[in-house]
Amino acid sequence: MHFQLRILGGSLVTGEGIQVADLGISDGKIVQIGNLGGDTSDEVVDASGLHVLPGGIDTQVHFREPGFEHKEDLESGTRAAIMGGITSIFEMPNTDPTTTAREALQDKLDRAKGRAWCDYAFFVGASKDNIADLAELEMLPGTPGIKIFMGSSTGSLLVDDDESLREVLSHCTKRSPIHAEDEFRLAERKKMRSENPHVREHPIRRDVECARLATERVLRISEETGHPVHILHVSTRDELPLIAEAKKRGLKTTCEVTPQHLTLNSESYETLGTYAQMNPPVRTEVHRVALWQAVKDGLFDVFGSDHAPHAKFEKALPYPESPSGMPGVQTMLPVLLEWVHRGELPLTVLVKMLCENPAKIYGIRGKGQIAEGFDADLAIVDLNAEWTIGPDWLQSKCEWSPFDGMTVHGRIEHVFLRGKWAVREGQLNGRMSGVPVQFDWKPGATIEE
Ligand code: DOR
Repeated sequence: MHFQLRILGGSLVTGEGIQVADLGISDGKIVQIGNLGGDTSDEVVDASGLHVLPGGIDTQVHFREPGFEHKEDLESGTRAAIMGGITSIFEMPNTDPTTTAREALQDKLDRAKGRAWCDYAFFVGASKDNIADLAELEMLPGTPGIKIFMGSSTGSLLVDDDESLREVLSHCTKRSPIHAEDEFRLAERKKMRSENPHVREHPIRRDVECARLATERVLRISEETGHPVHILHVSTRDELPLIAEAKKRGLKTTCEVTPQHLTLNSESYETLGTYAQMNPPVRTEVHRVALWQAVKDGLFDVFGSDHAPHAKFEKALPYPESPSGMPGVQTMLPVLLEWVHRGELPLTVLVKMLCENPAKIYGIRGKGQIAEGFDADLAIVDLNAEWTIGPDWLQSKCEWSPFDGMTVHGRIEHVFLRGKWAVREGQLNGRMSGVPVQFDWKPGATIEE
């Protein structure tokens, strides 16, 4: 058979296992997997000695356009994504204007056209003013669904009280991602004053109870309304039994953990200062270790980066005026590959949580798997390459990373987006050919299906 592209001799990684095989790709899709050495193609890539992963799907990024383009924009954010082996992103609605209406969603889709290095979709934000429109908004092409902030973070989107939360959840059918920090407790603790405020107080102001309480509340309302929720960036040991119990009770709850919460801890405030400030906060070692145990127990469904860049001059403001958030879309896969190297994370689990599960829980069409018929979105990595994350490689407009200077094992050699070169030998190579991600949403879908 003749293909457009054959990728020969790579170790193909799925959630189930790793096997050496060839890929035959035509019209942007994987059309055959097997021994294709005797076939022909327009182009051949030798992947022997390398691992071939499905392109990563990052379902939580903030790319800041429109409104905050000095921090990031859709071009620079998607460039960072593709260089980091991420071939699809879901972008968050706390831009200016917020993505809370049809026009704002369309504006983002228009802006992304011809300026995106990877495929994309944009969340619509829930607010107390758009509840009646949510059912219609969540089904528009180009959106994975409705994002809910229970606690205020960057921007003004907020659904803080139980009654509004109940209203929002009963107006949606798609799984809703939730920023679970309790606004009432946050507001109370914001009044705390210290003589010499330091960012090490961040996890005390936004304490464990802020997160635990919000997760408990939203799970209760999820059960009442029968609407499944996705708990974003879980940061505490205390939320884990609540989520485990919700899953056991059949609430179809899913949850996310970030590389920051798995890699940094409260000591990072001493070394990184406000660059370690994010919401919910990076916490003590007890929590970091518990999050890893939950990854090993299979509690977490997905990795997400919560890529939330701020300019250096903003981060230089004295705490607590310094904004919360760190970039992460580009470093997510390399940092996770380092955890693979350290023996903490099986490569198959990485692929499950970064590629397969995001596609399943959001009903993404044709992505997240190395399987016949799926989009040829691929990240080809050299697990043995040791290198140091540094400014020459980083693409975000914010020009910093909490992982700058970290030596990791596992380098992203090549990236393909729907069968086309996007990154070649670690260098950007291709065009801004990203398109909107498509969805086949089945209400109530769970990752077991
Ligand atoms: O630290 C954060 N920054 N957490 C969020 O939830 C929002 C984000 C941002 O947009 O800056």
